[in-house]
Amino acid sequence: MRDWLKGEPLVIERGKGAVLWDVHGREYIDANSSIWTNLHGHNHPKVNAAIRRQLGRVAHTSALGLANEPASLLGQALVQLANPRTGLPKRQSRLAKVFYSDDGSTAVEVALKLAYEFACRTGRARKPRFLSLDGAYHGDTVGAVSAGHIDLFHKAYSGMLFKTDKVMSPYCYRCPFNKAKPERGDARDTRKCNFECVDKVEQQFAARKKRGVNYAALLVEPGIQGPAGMIAQPKGWLGRVAEISRVHGTQLIADEVMTGLGRAADQLFASHDEGVQPDFLCVAKGLTGGYLPMAATLTTQEVFDAFLGDYSELKTFFHGHSYTGNQLGSAASLASIGLLNTAATRRKKLAANLRSESKRLWMLPQVGDIRQAGCVLAVELVRDWQTREPFELIERAGIRVCDALAKRGVLTRPVGNVIVIMPPYCTTQRQVKKIFSALHNAIDETLTKNG
Ligand SMILES: Cc1ncc(COP(=O)(O)O)c(C=O)c1O
Repeated sequence: MRDWLKGEPLVIERGKGAVLWDVHGREYIDANSSIWTNLHGHNHPKVNAAIRRQLGRVAHTSALGLANEPASLLGQALVQLANPRTGLPKRQSRLAKVFYSDDGSTAVEVALKLAYEFACRTGRARKPRFLSLDGAYHGDTVGAVSAGHIDLFHKAYSGMLFKTDKVMSPYCYRCPFNKAKPERGDARDTRKCNFECVDKVEQQFAARKKRGVNYAALLVEPGIQGPAGMIAQPKGWLGRVAEISRVHGTQLIADEVMTGLGRAADQLFASHDEGVQPDFLCVAKGLTGGYLPMAATLTTQEVFDAFLGDYSELKTFFHGHSYTGNQLGSAASLASIGLLNTAATRRKKLAANLRSESKRLWMLPQVGDIRQAGCVLAVELVRDWQTREPFELIERAGIRVCDALAKRGVLTRPVGNVIVIMPPYCTTQRQVKKIFSALHNAIDETLTKNG
């Protein structure tokens, strides 16, 4: 905060497509989609029009005891998106119900509470516990923080959190089981291991079972763990882990807050790329196309039914927010979802452009790993690629590179030593070229020349 107070803030005034302008008229490419939210570009005529149309009717009405049309239609659209006709094994459960909240943290919080109570009511677990991945971040509310495992963010609150277990994440680049030497390529492609990370999950379930405890849920980010440092999973990891969870009768919560709606996979949800249908699917960030705060937690009929009863049974899910089912947010979401079909080709092109334009970074000695999941690309900075030695956090390597990038007209935020490139789907090849040319020069200037 002291650093922020010292500097002159960058004040953003307007945007169009992948471009933002500040109050001085300076132009920037929004290379992290305004903290991973924007899907189709800023100031999109169709999303703008949908919000204006809804604003002419009503902005918000309570969802406590009242329904509204845009939220109902959005529920239907989400259920359709979450249950693709092909690609999922028949025995996988259908995501049939939608619970609205406000942001990624609350989408996860809702899933945790539902899974906990479901496990208790169905007798699946006596003292339900949660399992999540090392380095996980699922939001800033107390439940989401409890299931998170980033000491830097979470340690200060340890006294007010409930206990959860963690298991190793499939971080091929820094995996103790990966025997491969550093190479100039994505560590997942050159890894030499026997999927010991999957064995660890199996062992964790077995150890808990021995102590008479079953998990209420396993909580994962499918495809790529974002705030943990953009840890992209090797193909086959999620499928294997989901199967272990299923065999143990544990529910699977997919936090697709960052990865969902086409961001990090070929299909619209990263779980589906691995043929996995979770029991809970958390969607936020890009739900409204990056316009308004709104989130959804999808789940099965079975979970819904566990909360269904006569009034006297008091089985209802005691959770609700004032802005639940917000009409403006729902209208924006419907418009954004409507654009996803035409965005499919754009997403493919963007992913291909990110792949080809990022190749030039391999020539820099401070680039240790470049990993990609769909339209998300991450560059891990190291002191020397041959040793994989990381920079200390206080050296602010990622922050310094991003500052140098901003001077070159490209905006993004690092996750520690990892530079995140995740522009909106409408980003052109020319803009992608500019991003990576600027990133190459920013790394070269900040770390290679100035150390
Ligand atoms: C994977 C994941 N889950 C949850 C969250 C929390 O979302 P929000 O900031 O909207 O509360 C984030 C935010 O970065 C996230 O990346």
